[in-house]
Amino acid sequence: MRMDFRFNFFPDEDESKEPSAHSETQPCSATRQDERPAVKRDCIKAAKEHRIPADGSEVLHNKVLQTASGLYYVNMAVVELTCRDGAHGEDIVSKSVSSHSDLIPGVYEGGLKIWECTYDLMEFLAEAEIQFANKRVLDLGCGAGLLGIVALKGNAAEVHFQDYNSTVIEEITMPNVVANCISGGNEADSKEDRKNVKPPSKRRKELEPLPDGLTRCRFFSGGWSEVSQLLLDSKPCSKYDLILTSETIYNPDYYGALHDTLAQLLAKDGRVYLASKVHYFGVGGGIYLFEKYLEERKVFRSSTVKEVEDGLKRYILEIAFQDSA
Ligand SMILES: C[S@@+](CC[C@H](N)C(=O)[O-])C[C@H]1O[C@@H](n2cnc3c(N)ncnc32)[C@H](O)[C@@H]1O
Repeated sequence: MRMDFRFNFFPDEDESKEPSAHSETQPCSATRQDERPAVKRDCIKAAKEHRIPADGSEVLHNKVLQTASGLYYVNMAVVELTCRDGAHGEDIVSKSVSSHSDLIPGVYEGGLKIWECTYDLMEFLAEAEIQFANKRVLDLGCGAGLLGIVALKGNAAEVHFQDYNSTVIEEITMPNVVANCISGGNEADSKEDRKNVKPPSKRRKELEPLPDGLTRCRFFSGGWSEVSQLLLDSKPCSKYDLILTSETIYNPDYYGALHDTLAQLLAKDGRVYLASKVHYFGVGGGIYLFEKYLEERKVFRSSTVKEVEDGLKRYILEIAFQDSA
């Protein structure tokens, strides 16, 4: 399984002969003066809700399950192999492989991998004993959806999952949720994988199925503004007590949409827990830039609740409305 992350936004001299991340696959991207590809508004993916099939175990067909930190998740290398034939209209697997990039702005936003800050946030949620019982939770930019699954296991009243790419929701997020909800994902092979993932040190409970779990979940794909609008238009529209989001502030072009989505969807006294690396080289975003953005907009206050010093520094921010309790 590939677990190294590649951002080919500023090819350095050594990489200049590699295929460009955008030349073939980005009819929608525009190049700005600083050469970082921007995404035109009308190229952002529309919002869509994905329904779980009546027989939930269908989504585990052809999947190989692994476990880490007491959670099931699908082996992503197998998903990559089975999706390489362009079975999904988005064709993000081939595009990611051919562009040598784990991020193609406006096309593929990285959800086929589990990014390391997910594990930081899982560890923080366990250490801080964040309570999910009876809360409405959104896993924003969910990818594998492990944060939302932790909330589900903590008896959240509802957990909604959002990823930019529909392929990610259908091939990864939903199977992961189903695998953790039905009896051990018994349609699929399961093996423990300790090699490629770094599970949190504070381990959660064993792999207990969540029989009613699926009825508490909804799944959405599309751009943040678009999904936010879809949720606001749905009646009744209730806001989220907790929004969990990991590795979603790498691209400063998206800060406006992300900020407004948090502002529109967070309950008055709700909390956002955001995990990020200090800086995303080659992409431009990072924790300081995002904190500065929050300060300038004057809607939220934020504080650092955890720092991880191991390698490139990583942070967890707690974000709340300025006038909240
Ligand atoms: C780098 S991935 C992180 C995935 C996952 N949270 C993790 O930590 O493993 C970034 C995620 O943010 C979402 N995302 C990024 N930009 C987005 C945008 N403009 N609109 C909607 N979703 C976006 C993508 O769906 C993607 O899953």
